[in-house]
Amino acid sequence: MDEEFEPKLLYILCSWCGSGGSESARAHGLKYPANVLPYRVNCTGSLPPVHILRALLEGADGVAVSGCYPGDCHYEGGNYHARRRVALTKAILEALDLGEDRLWFRFVAHGEGRRFVDTAAEFNDHLKELGPNPLNEITTT
Ligand code: FES
Repeated sequence: MDEEFEPKLLYILCSWCGSGGSESARAHGLKYPANVLPYRVNCTGSLPPVHILRALLEGADGVAVSGCYPGDCHYEGGNYHARRRVALTKAILEALDLGEDRLWFRFVAHGEGRRFVDTAAEFNDHLKELGPNPLNEITTT
């Protein structure tokens, strides 16, 4: 494991529960790694797989997605669509030999600041173990 490696982690959050989790963390003074880049979308169901793949092609070492728990999505099941799309995207990542575990999906509720912070930290540690996205080595050499 490279001790100096700081992953570039894109954390995609729905504007309701996922972002609510990050706002709750901020309100309670909970910190997450500085190399985690939160990115808000209206609903995780509006997130096309190509955007996740593009993030990995353009320098991210991993992508996490968090939205509302089942039954809580504000757009009638967008989170179910997201979960299926993430599963599909994981299969694509496997087929590309990138490893499906560069993509995480986890439900986070509006008040779950601790869960948001823990997910960011756990995924960050996981990516450190995995090492840099191999696509980055190809595109930067
Ligand atoms: S609004 Fe949160 S996942 Fe749809």
